[in-house]
Amino acid sequence: MVKICCIGAGYVGGPTMAVIALKCPSIEVAVVDISISRITAWNSDVLPIYEPGLDDVVKQCRGKNLFFSTDVEKHVFEADIVFVSVNTPTKTQGLGAGKAADLTYWESAARMIADVSKSDKIVVEKSTVPVKTAEAIEKILMHNSKGIKFQILSNPEFLAEGTAIKDLFNPDRVLIGGRETPEGLKAVQALKSVYAHWVPEQRILTTNLWSAELSKLAANAFLAQRISSVNAMSALCEATGANIQQVAYAVGTDSRIGPKFLNASVGFGGSCFQKDILNLVYICECNGLPEVAEYWKQVIKINDYQKSRFVNRVVASMFNTVSNKKIAILGFAFKKDTGDTRETPAIDVCQGLLGDKANLSIYDPQVTEDQIQRDLSMNKFDWDHPIHLQPTSPTTVKKVSVVWDAYEATKDAHGICILTEWDEFKTLDFQKIYENMQKPAFVFDGRNIVDAEKLREIGFIVYSIGKPLDAWLKDMPAVA
Ligand code: UDX
Ligand code: ADP
Repeated sequence: MVKICCIGAGYVGGPTMAVIALKCPSIEVAVVDISISRITAWNSDVLPIYEPGLDDVVKQCRGKNLFFSTDVEKHVFEADIVFVSVNTPTKTQGLGAGKAADLTYWESAARMIADVSKSDKIVVEKSTVPVKTAEAIEKILMHNSKGIKFQILSNPEFLAEGTAIKDLFNPDRVLIGGRETPEGLKAVQALKSVYAHWVPEQRILTTNLWSAELSKLAANAFLAQRISSVNAMSALCEATGANIQQVAYAVGTDSRIGPKFLNASVGFGGSCFQKDILNLVYICECNGLPEVAEYWKQVIKINDYQKSRFVNRVVASMFNTVSNKKIAILGFAFKKDTGDTRETPAIDVCQGLLGDKANLSIYDPQVTEDQIQRDLSMNKFDWDHPIHLQPTSPTTVKKVSVVWDAYEATKDAHGICILTEWDEFKTLDFQKIYENMQKPAFVFDGRNIVDAEKLREIGFIVYSIGKPLDAWLKDMPAVA
């Protein structure tokens, strides 16, 4: 029986390994992590991450050919193939601070693999930020190998949260990069044969090591760039009276452009986009390509601009002050169908409003109060360290309350900010909400999910990203 071990039981490692176990009954899969609380949760009825369909997959395989354990060394020792899916935070100090990936966790995982291995192994890089990581790991393993042969592969993950199981069952492509030596090609074939259990052969692409890594950065940069492009257009639409949804539809029906990833929003979030682009920028700078670096930097700048534009719009329309006013925040996750808050635009928007002394009442169907309080007290880039997975008592931000119902959040509020596109927000009883709010009552829709006309009929003043402005908003221009 082939044995796979995955180091890192996070958003990538957990779902990916669960699907491999489901689709390959002849393979034994162990997912290991240093976080005791995470592993305990994976072994319980309440999994540590919310992902549609995941519970079902885990239930089918757990205890049969899928195991979650904190005994990292034992499972690495036994494995034929070791996936490494540990954190890759952005460096906050020293060389490349604010941009470059911090490979501390990767390096310690690689040294541990070298230490405990007594047989040849394929080591697969499956982190969210590949930055020549595979080559670095290869060097560590080769210099500490004690005669054991390691083959390094890069197998970037393209799944999106909220649709992870669907994406894993039916991927657009699986990408495997390896060394172009006979041993390297053999390792690529071995990993290919795992995916071939359910992925059609023509969708499994093979490349050299660095091409696979760079493809992942490029794919995320291209996707993020589309969102920044449509968000940049949304600002122009508001200034000139056009409707971004009509413009995006017209643009997206060009088959060369395509309709996906053209939804204007309060900004993109998630653990990958910003981090990957920052790394791309850093790699360009290190390779003497400042113009290329500057080009990609703009994608992040527009994203930051979009978030601060939103905050300015809220404050400006409420007579230039939200001091001591209750503002309801509907949605905190970085997108719907996930409880993940990493780099969510809600953090920046909430901090912006708190900076103007607002009182926030936050409701998200999947994010806990602890998580929200922790996110709002955390320094930029600190979210990607395993220490934050351990239970600690977060510093409470006094002007923030977290409630478990949209009606409670909006009661007596002056304004509502919709920051995540949860389906349940589309069917709220806005008449009831209006009656319980202060007047004038505002809705700032950062995801374009409400029927603005209907809300205006009820009496709300409505701001929708990239849509023609209400007379009220035109009279209260936001200065960027
Ligand atoms: C992304 C990539 O899609 C995935 O391939 C990669 O493996 C990891 O990074 P993820 O971060 O899970 O996945 O979510 P994604 O669906 O890409 O959304 C990212 C952000 O962009 C979210 O905040 C989302 O709300 C926002 N977004 C997306 C928009 O604002 N507009 C859109 O049209 C699409
Ligand atoms: P991703 O989104 O890439 O899956 P996560 O932060 O969700 O990232 O998961 C990474 C996991 O890796 C965390 O659960 C963390 O505890 C784990 N981890 C980090 N370093 C190590 C290590 N040396 N050994 C085992 N697990 C590790």
